[in-house]
Amino acid sequence: MTRTNALITGASSGIGAAYARLLSDDHDLVLVARRADRLGELADELRARGAAVEVLPADLATQDGIAAVTTRLAVGDVRMLISNAGAGGYAPLTDVDPAEIQSLLTLNAVAPVLLVRAALPGMLAAGEGSVVAVASLLAFSAGSTLARRTDGTPPQAPRRTLYVAAKAATVGFTRTLAGELADTPVRVQVVCPSIVATEWNGGVSRGNPRAMLPEDVASASLAGLRLGETVCVPGLEDQDSALDALLAAEAGVMGGGFRSALATRYTDQRA
Ligand SMILES: NC(=O)c1ccc[n+]([C@@H]2O[C@H](COP(=O)([O-])OP(=O)(O)OC[C@H]3O[C@@H](n4cnc5c(N)ncnc54)[C@H](OP(=O)(O)O)[C@@H]3O)[C@@H](O)[C@H]2O)c1
Repeated sequence: MTRTNALITGASSGIGAAYARLLSDDHDLVLVARRADRLGELADELRARGAAVEVLPADLATQDGIAAVTTRLAVGDVRMLISNAGAGGYAPLTDVDPAEIQSLLTLNAVAPVLLVRAALPGMLAAGEGSVVAVASLLAFSAGSTLARRTDGTPPQAPRRTLYVAAKAATVGFTRTLAGELADTPVRVQVVCPSIVATEWNGGVSRGNPRAMLPEDVASASLAGLRLGETVCVPGLEDQDSALDALLAAEAGVMGGGFRSALATRYTDQRA
């Protein structure tokens, strides 16, 4: 079987390293993250299993780091892009320094788009390719952060505006791109895990009894690609029904709001 190239960001630990191990059976790999030592150790392990592995250290919160990876992708030989690098950075918005806001949104939302933009021409020219973006189930959590709990206490999940915004952007981007590329051979998927036992966000999910294993997330994503899933929620049993309900809700807002007249609750307010 011919080996093709896969580039994985955030490959130095957690979900990204799990993708790398699974893909190394039939792919050569480009491993991206900041910690070159960790990438080097993983590269040695995967080379011993027969994969050719490039290590590309890059900080994807910076323009230089993004440019290093887009330059590599522009070579045009990468047939699978796993855009997985990310960070949590939970804090009340007013506690976050504006430079940190820029950096978190760049890493979690802007870099994935620029990497996909750089990878697509090579995939389209080759007539094959897969793009996977790792977002989060929290992309769908904005509504739940509005709702007070049944006992009247404040919403359960504030302090993560930037993370939710970035991951929701990735979900919106990837779903829309899947439609844009529907008539091409390039497959597009966004992965939305719940809690995963990794080093993420200082290791907060480690020890959580509801945490999934990173290997299971990567394996679900690759199985979902084979199934043709644009959205992969690894723990969701009846995914078709849940996504149909989401589509129906979106269509309700779009269909109802897409008109030139104001809704009566606003015209009723006019003097
Ligand atoms: N763990 C969870 O509960 C959970 C749930 C849903 C979604 N996710 C998402 O899953 C993805 C992978 O996270 P994980 O759980 O596997 O956590 P992880 O073990 O902490 O891995 C995060 C990866 O991203 C890389 N990374 C972080 N900042 C980077 C930067 N500025 N430039 C380049 N690479 C950077 C890290 O490498 P370096 O530190 O070496 O740069 C590491 O390889 C993230 O996008 C995360 O948001 C995680």
